[in-house]
Amino acid sequence: MEKIKVGVLGAGTMGSGIAQVAAQSGHHVVLVENNKNALDKAKNNLEKIFHRMVEKGKWTSDFANAAYGRITFTQDLNDFNGCGLVIEAIVENIDIKHQVFRAIEAIVGKECILASNTSSLSIASIGAVLSEPSRVIGIHFFNPAPLMPLVEIIPAVQTSDLVTAQATTIIKSWEKVTVLAKDTPGFIVNRVARPFYGEALRIYEEGIADFATIDWAMTELGGFRMGPFTLMDYIGNDINYTVTETVFAAFYYDPRYKPSFTQKRHAEAGYLGRKSGRGYYDYTEGSESPKPVQNTALGEQIKNRILAMLMNEAIDALFLNIASKEDIDLAMTKGVNYPKGLLQWAEEVGLAIVLEQLTTLQTEYGEDRYRPSPLLKRMVQAGKTHF
Ligand SMILES: NC(=O)c1ccc[n+]([C@@H]2O[C@H](COP(=O)([O-])OP(=O)(O)OC[C@H]3O[C@@H](n4cnc5c(N)ncnc54)[C@H](O)[C@@H]3O)[C@@H](O)[C@H]2O)c1
Repeated sequence: MEKIKVGVLGAGTMGSGIAQVAAQSGHHVVLVENNKNALDKAKNNLEKIFHRMVEKGKWTSDFANAAYGRITFTQDLNDFNGCGLVIEAIVENIDIKHQVFRAIEAIVGKECILASNTSSLSIASIGAVLSEPSRVIGIHFFNPAPLMPLVEIIPAVQTSDLVTAQATTIIKSWEKVTVLAKDTPGFIVNRVARPFYGEALRIYEEGIADFATIDWAMTELGGFRMGPFTLMDYIGNDINYTVTETVFAAFYYDPRYKPSFTQKRHAEAGYLGRKSGRGYYDYTEGSESPKPVQNTALGEQIKNRILAMLMNEAIDALFLNIASKEDIDLAMTKGVNYPKGLLQWAEEVGLAIVLEQLTTLQTEYGEDRYRPSPLLKRMVQAGKTHF
């Protein structure tokens, strides 16, 4: 059967990665980008990436040439004509997204699925401007799209079950792991992961430990691939801060998601992380990495506090039916490389222990930030140990 033609709007970081994944999965891809320089850059980058795959022996040159040849690079939105799926990956701005979704709907056929790769905007609001909103869906890839296995599928309230099923089938055929998430701020990963950054920053602000020690606790004792400060420097403090601020506002200022002044000041100072040469750490040549205080008792205290907050977030996402328990655990292991799913991890630690850690924090600080999820309280009260 002929594979559907896939449209991708925006040839930036995400759009070019998504175009690559679709092309290597056998689809003809139309990559539309309105900025000529960005389009040329994406074209050159993809050519280099495909070459490198051949050099590394991962692809034959026939496969690479065929895949590259399936991508049409264009500035003309009308080239989306005939697509069965269009994925939008342009600037994170609802007004601009509204404009382009309206324009795309006027070009494509009735059967075409219209998807957004948005990280933080509501899919329902994007669909609201369409004359056929049942065809809108969130298809949220992680950066870099060709390497990260996870894709969150987010039906809006208007999305038809058929569109959800079709979108899931297509993305699975691209060898991705899909999870189904409710159309709520941050979906699964960007919601559940907030305390990894937020609680680490809070611990630093309280003077309990420095960046290097907190990172050491999370990598050495927690088994995470990167510590929170190294990861924030990698993502970029400007980007990570904006996501936190957006999620905080979108949750009606729930204190659980409160952004940190430390991160805001770092972003304001231009200490963005690796990309600016300095973030929480100094990346200029010859600079020395600060040494962590390798005190196991302190490290355990830090790790347990951040983990309890992460587990509570995952449990609350389950409580509010954001996703199934399997999908919540898959999302964190496949989307952000956590060493274990947080729900499974909480079961292993013991739900009563996790509850006690949170209750102790809540009593000490008197802040709603530390409130345990009602689901955790109910489970412990009922003597249940597994979700
Ligand atoms: N960067 C990430 O880590 C990441 C991860 C997941 C999702 N997202 C989401 O993906 C989307 C794109 O993010 P990005 O990081 O790739 O951005 P980016 O800035 O790297 O790329 C966006 C591209 O879209 C182009 N563009 C803007 N308006 C356009 C228009 N009207 N028509 C055609 N092209 C247009 C820009 O010129 C730019 O090249 C955003 O919604 C973002 O929230 C980003």
